[in-house]
Amino acid sequence: MANSESELPIEPVYDESALAGFDAQAKLGAPGEYPYTRGVYPSMYTGRPWTMRQYAGFGTARESNARYKELVEHGTGGLSVAFDLPTQMGYDSDHELSHGEVGKVGVAIDSIDDMQVLFDELPLDQVSTSMTINAPASTLLLLYQLTAERQGIAAGQLTGTIQNDVLKEYIARGTYIYPPAESLRLISDIFAYCHREIPRWNTISISGYHMAEAGATPVQEVAFTLANAKEYVRAAIAAGLDVDDFAPRLSFFFVARTSLLEEVAKFRAARRMWARIMREEFGAKNPKSLMLRFHTQTAGVQLTAQQPEVNMVRVALQGLGAVLGGTQSLHTNSYDEAIALPTAKAARLALRTQQVIAYETDVTKTVDPFAGSYVVESMTDDVEEAALALIQQVEDKGGAVKAIEEGFQKSEIERTAYATALQIDSGERTVVGLNKFVTKDDEAYVPLRVDPAIEAEQCERLATLRKERDNGAVEKALDALRAAAQGSDNALIPMKEALAARATGGEVSNALRDVWGMYVPREFF
Ligand code: 3HC
Repeated sequence: MANSESELPIEPVYDESALAGFDAQAKLGAPGEYPYTRGVYPSMYTGRPWTMRQYAGFGTARESNARYKELVEHGTGGLSVAFDLPTQMGYDSDHELSHGEVGKVGVAIDSIDDMQVLFDELPLDQVSTSMTINAPASTLLLLYQLTAERQGIAAGQLTGTIQNDVLKEYIARGTYIYPPAESLRLISDIFAYCHREIPRWNTISISGYHMAEAGATPVQEVAFTLANAKEYVRAAIAAGLDVDDFAPRLSFFFVARTSLLEEVAKFRAARRMWARIMREEFGAKNPKSLMLRFHTQTAGVQLTAQQPEVNMVRVALQGLGAVLGGTQSLHTNSYDEAIALPTAKAARLALRTQQVIAYETDVTKTVDPFAGSYVVESMTDDVEEAALALIQQVEDKGGAVKAIEEGFQKSEIERTAYATALQIDSGERTVVGLNKFVTKDDEAYVPLRVDPAIEAEQCERLATLRKERDNGAVEKALDALRAAAQGSDNALIPMKEALAARATGGEVSNALRDVWGMYVPREFF
């Protein structure tokens, strides 16, 4: 008998005995109905296709703006902004720690000036924009709001998502700044602010993707993601928010691997689990609070630098799995991402892959095509059962934050990542082109390189900004931000004032660092 990626058994044959006693009403319901196993909307893709949302951004705001316009022209339905590492860590481009990183893995945004260039001539009242930003999520959200307002678009019209999921940063991704308690406080401030000011905004994208990229199995991915989600819900309720005021705007983010059957089962299980958790544990009443809406990205970790064109095939299968699992939004990777930032041609092909799935296959013509399948329903139950048991382990440690402080999730993921690496090395696990079906004469590939002059250009812009602006007004606004951080007033109100006065992202993060300090992981003690 074979095993799944989560080490769950897969039978060679499933028959009707697999579904003996299966209560379809309780386990599945209708699409768009509790427990949402079959999808969050009654009509799913027969009513509206998923959002094709390609993650992109590099260099300066001007270059990224051009790439976004090109993507929109080619039929992408939503934007997804990649920020460079300094922006993600709350440092300006001219900070000494930023040296060598400006504009590399995403766009450099230091202030409102850059943000206005980034979204120049893009219809922010029509596109939804996702921003992969975590510790400084509030800063970038407010810059987005300010930019839209300056284009004459009211905050109430804006739709999009900030990643804002700091707990998984401590576990797998690394761009955290403040300690967990202060991070959770800021996240609850964002929930409250958006409920009042930007009600259509998805305030968080609770992400299993990065844990999966670090080596988590599908079961670990779902369990640790939902355990983090529970922690955010508890923190927001403890801060005095009503669950139905913020839960409808929580969103999720998962990976799609090439192991298609287990992935479809994973997405379906995750929806059912979240609906039950929200209703039974948190007493949510609004149906929207119970719906697990998610973005998917195809598995970058499964792409190979060898024979990169084979990655197009992997991405097509992974994207298909995400769609069969009912994703709301999808990024398909470019085939060259295992080598460098995608070239424009590869990025376009990635989008075309989604368009083929959407418009040339028949999988979008009926909702949840795998419902009732002996194997997929069995695997959905298996993933659910195993993931619930793992969530319970996290809860027994006192919840996600306590478990993070103990290093639990990270060491569990490292254990499975190591096992996978051994399987690839020994040939027990086949990776086409890497350890089997290898060719010796791979064609030369010319990767995209980011111009190092971008850093100097960005530093010059900052020097001009610091000369031109009213520095007294900036200092006053930053003092108000420090005061809010020390007390319990919503920090986003003075933060918006500061950013409107052209305070930089780095200055805003520094003001919060002054009050809250920085998180130092256990392994550095
Ligand atoms: N029937 C009725 N209504 C429907 C419908 C249907 N069949 N399908 C969609 N709709 C409606 C929805 O209700 C919604 O309206 P509302 O906002 O008024 O409720 C509207 O159409 C848009 O649909 P969705 O909300 O389903 O789709 P969106 O694309 O707007 O949102 C999301 C999807 C998952 C909720 C959102 O959070 C999102 O877009 N996330 C993207 C996250 C992302 O791109 N992350 C990138 C990460 S990259 C990264 O981390 C980098 C590296 O480290 C890997």
